[in-house]
Amino acid sequence: MSTPEMLTPRAMGTPRRRVEGPAKVTGTARYAAEHPLDRPVHLHPVLATIPRGRVTAIDTSAAEAVDGVVAVLTTRDADALADTSDREFTVLQDDEIGFRGQYVGAVLADTPEAAREGADRVEVTYEQDDFRAVLDPDAGELYAPDAVNPAFATDSVIGDADAALGEAEVVVDATYTTATTHNNPLEPHSSIVVWEPDGGRFTIFDSTQGVSTTRSNVATVFGMDEADVDVISPHVGGGFGSKGNLHANVVLACLAARRVPGRPVKYPLTRQQMFSLVGYRTPTIQHVRLGATREGRLSALVHDVVEQTSRTKEFAEQTATYSRSVYAAPHRRTTHRLDMLDVPVPSWMRAPGECPGSFAAEVAMDELAVACDVDPVELRIRNEPDADPETGKPFSSRHLVECLRRGADRFGWSRRDPTPRARLVDGWWSGTGVAASAYPTNRSPGSGATIRYHRPAADGAEHWDVEIAAADIGTGARTVLGQIAADALGVDVDTVEVTVGDTAVPPATVAGGSSGTASWGSAVVDAAQRFRAKYGTDPSDGDEIEGATPENDWSEHYAMSAFGAQFAEVLVHADTGEVRVPRMLGVFAAGRILNPVTARSQFIGGMTMGLSMALHEDSVMDPRSGHVVNHDLANYHIASCADVGDMDAEWIDEEDPYVNPMGSKGIGEIGIVGAAAVVANAAYHATGVRVRSAPMLVDHFL
Ligand code: MOS
Repeated sequence: MSTPEMLTPRAMGTPRRRVEGPAKVTGTARYAAEHPLDRPVHLHPVLATIPRGRVTAIDTSAAEAVDGVVAVLTTRDADALADTSDREFTVLQDDEIGFRGQYVGAVLADTPEAAREGADRVEVTYEQDDFRAVLDPDAGELYAPDAVNPAFATDSVIGDADAALGEAEVVVDATYTTATTHNNPLEPHSSIVVWEPDGGRFTIFDSTQGVSTTRSNVATVFGMDEADVDVISPHVGGGFGSKGNLHANVVLACLAARRVPGRPVKYPLTRQQMFSLVGYRTPTIQHVRLGATREGRLSALVHDVVEQTSRTKEFAEQTATYSRSVYAAPHRRTTHRLDMLDVPVPSWMRAPGECPGSFAAEVAMDELAVACDVDPVELRIRNEPDADPETGKPFSSRHLVECLRRGADRFGWSRRDPTPRARLVDGWWSGTGVAASAYPTNRSPGSGATIRYHRPAADGAEHWDVEIAAADIGTGARTVLGQIAADALGVDVDTVEVTVGDTAVPPATVAGGSSGTASWGSAVVDAAQRFRAKYGTDPSDGDEIEGATPENDWSEHYAMSAFGAQFAEVLVHADTGEVRVPRMLGVFAAGRILNPVTARSQFIGGMTMGLSMALHEDSVMDPRSGHVVNHDLANYHIASCADVGDMDAEWIDEEDPYVNPMGSKGIGEIGIVGAAAVVANAAYHATGVRVRSAPMLVDHFL
């Protein structure tokens, strides 16, 4: 096969502000719960207060007596769902309770206040069973899932890692933990659902990372044709994975809508409800063993992961996959084991797998650098593989070493004295650290795109409509798709208007796995090429065509991944243990950067989320109640502006014709990968204290 042809960049690569920016900052961009509809009914749910057992009685009389209450839904009277194979979606179908915070009812009322008061007055009686809600490898029976998400092998074995560890000159053997963390997008999960009984149709305004996925999941659960489910989601205030697939909240809103035909049911989740109903990242316990020569060349890499899943539905985070492809090591083993608990269902959270996995792997590499007395940048360069260690395929492009070198140069690494706990300035220990970063380059088939040409007689100007049911969750996807379409058509980007987030236009895959731009952009390019092939360069008003994302045959020949290097400067107060991060720099190699403005915000957003993981984020599960006690943004701390110092991201220009016609790699997740590790590594250099858990606490340094 000859090298594939890439689009010539004209609009691509130029800094373009988000086209919907003015609408967002002036408040006219409508988010899911804001669509103005007549006579809305407000939903407030009733949540289980036990973690395991069953409902034995429900008394709704006091709720029904509240002024303004329209209806009360319970497990006793909700409509039967057509498909109950997925327990997460099996809302109000039986009395079994699988986790605390599960839906057991809902109150519908003319005002949100009446709905909430009504929900408070529903009396539920339970019978509680024994339960476990905290990850504990010694208490439960760990098991190996059939696969880890989305479809990776649970274990991988290359060579004989135990023998190699036995013979290694230097061994690092340590256990790392990461806390449970919750997705907290700015816009909570929200829906408005209208049920039209004539013919049976749902219209759903939803805050989602994929309207097509919401449509197909709702159609399955309710046994309907997809064509009878419309999903509309023009603007989404963040998702980070938690809006990547359907959750029970949409099913509940749909059940409620059927109770009040013709009236829109409005259900924005409270912050507190988001801690039990829309996913979270599992806590992890990761045992890493590295065997190396005295010069720091890896002979063995073992990464064994224990994490939790829910009895309600299995979700297996692919935590060790990071260790399968970043460093060369002839002997390697990675494993995942799950502890099945009576807890809410874990789900996607930015860089599932790579994020927690890189924390353990990249702190372990820092420990190896110390053990071998090799500079940690140099150590990583020494372990650069010439092909993907897992598959043996060459990388379509890989510039990790260049990222490390560029970052070291920019960060002033050459002036670094490796001695830990050697710089005390004004009461603060100071240090710097490095970590690598990587995220697979994904592209999914299954998206379509329409391109339509207009030249209205009125103004005689050219207009191009590009329609695809993609999601813009704040990333700038809509803007970048316009840039791609302009270059694929060879027209001025200002003549292109992009419509996303609506099942009325061709379907699209989810904004997940950092695959959105690559997948949707490939469909847009396909449509543009078909358009030109059919209509030439002088089309007529109204000409239109549909394209689709092709399969990428090159992925049989090449491993595809983006890489990066993270650097951080950390201060730890000698008396209080307070940690500050005055400086972070990420240098990434992620193919062609299609829009420097929105890309920078993606990288920095990911790095900030990793900083937040290193310093703050920790969902505290009460073992006695199965309840996340800090279940709101007052108590669940995330990084705020005061935590973020001089944070910068830059990139290496990378030419990769094999990934897609744009030459782009996904950038939504790589910024968080390695970001928590680099903070821990710099904190070690500052203090000499090796922290092997995220978040780091004041106590670690005292
Ligand atoms: Mo991302 S966690 O794949 O939405």
